[in-house]
Amino acid sequence: MEQTVKIVVDGKTFRLPMITGSEGERVIDISGLRKETGLVTLDPGFANTASCQSRITFVDGERGILRYRGIPVEQLAKHSTFVETAYLLINGELPTQKQLNRFSVLLNDHSLVHEDMQAFFQNFPRSAHPMGILSSMVNALRAFYPEIPERSEEEEIDITVTRLLSKVRTMAAMSYKIFRGHKVVYPRHDLTYAANFLNMMFDSPVRPYDIDEDLVKALNVFWILHADHEQNCSTAAVRVVGSAKVNLYAAISAGICALWGPLHGGANQAVVEMVSQIHKNGGDMAPLIARAKDKNDPFRLMGFGHRVYKTYDPRARVMKKVCDSVLCKLTGHDPLLDIAKGLEEVALKDPYFIDHHLYPNVDFYSGILLRAIGIPLNMFTVLFAIGRLPGWISQWRESIDDPGWKIDRPRQVYIGPGERDYVPIKKRGRQTRRKDEKN
Ligand code: CMC
Repeated sequence: MEQTVKIVVDGKTFRLPMITGSEGERVIDISGLRKETGLVTLDPGFANTASCQSRITFVDGERGILRYRGIPVEQLAKHSTFVETAYLLINGELPTQKQLNRFSVLLNDHSLVHEDMQAFFQNFPRSAHPMGILSSMVNALRAFYPEIPERSEEEEIDITVTRLLSKVRTMAAMSYKIFRGHKVVYPRHDLTYAANFLNMMFDSPVRPYDIDEDLVKALNVFWILHADHEQNCSTAAVRVVGSAKVNLYAAISAGICALWGPLHGGANQAVVEMVSQIHKNGGDMAPLIARAKDKNDPFRLMGFGHRVYKTYDPRARVMKKVCDSVLCKLTGHDPLLDIAKGLEEVALKDPYFIDHHLYPNVDFYSGILLRAIGIPLNMFTVLFAIGRLPGWISQWRESIDDPGWKIDRPRQVYIGPGERDYVPIKKRGRQTRRKDEKN
């Protein structure tokens, strides 16, 4: 029997249909609300709004569950590689060996970046943040790789997807080398995706880079854990921008910009800065905890809290373990990891954090892991962006393939001034200004 909810407006009853997701989530379908009742809904931050139906990623924030195409992220982190997980997200199924080999060869074939793009990289100021550079360069890819009319739409999408996945890591490493004033290292056909990236970042004519398979595995896990997270801020940005039917490069570039923010992907950098500050001040965490709890202070404990998870973020649990094993192998221990663990312990016992359901999120330990791998601080969010790319691509693809596709265009509740006359500039006195301020 079809389930409905009843709403009563001005004494008149309306019935709205309900939808049940494959994991049992019950949703009120309000798509016909305005047509039937003349009403719209108000939901700041979209905290109660499902913007789409999706088959890609399932998150249960109360139970701490994250699955890509049904497979728990913990299993993927243990057994899969980033390339295989990207294939799963984009195509819906794990690849056969033959499909995986072909995908890897394609990623290899597309890994070079047009030589003329180097001129762009060279001209960014040295102080430019790599996220700004990456979003500009991803957008610029369309100019260097224009659409070819002879290709079918499907072929064009496939090639664009492969190019993006492959070139993004080359461009990220290139921007780092150029920022340091060093020679760009080209991708190698004999290296896997993650090993290639590390080699492009760290190999140098005076110090060849020794690839450590444990670090390659750690980077794969880092990217797998970031590969998708359903309708987060950057993915929503990709879908919204993509809904205007722009090219995929432009939509991904918008996602990169959204991810840059410290409340989103920028938090991994902010956590390391925060923990380093505590270390510099002799390890006393109490002042920052007090600030995080102070309603009059905008400071937040970075790497804590999540819009969806009201329990421990499953990605943070895996990340903490990887951090432990990598740091144990490399240095024995890291004072920043000790401080982070101490902060977690204090926060998880504090009534403020308990009452607000604030637990470590994916960013809490990820920066410490990246630091151990040797990634510089200002590249942390770029690493997140490389990892999130398969998610953005699969979500974009799902939205453009949706037979019920619509351009995204939210409504609003207007609370500005009512109609008033234009006042010529000479007549605009103090009185008019005061009136404006009141409005
Ligand atoms: N430290 C202290 N208080 C916090 C924190 C925090 N990290 N996070 C939320 N709160 C409090 C907040 O002050 C508010 O308190 P009250 O109800 O008393 O006014 C309450 O918890 C709810 O906060 P909110 O801002 O309404 O929650 P939200 O769902 O809109 O925000 C968040 C989610 C992730 C933006 C937020 O928790 C935050 O700013 N965390 C720190 C930044 C961070 O770690 N971001 C990474 C997120 S995970 C990866 C990603 O998405 O990229």
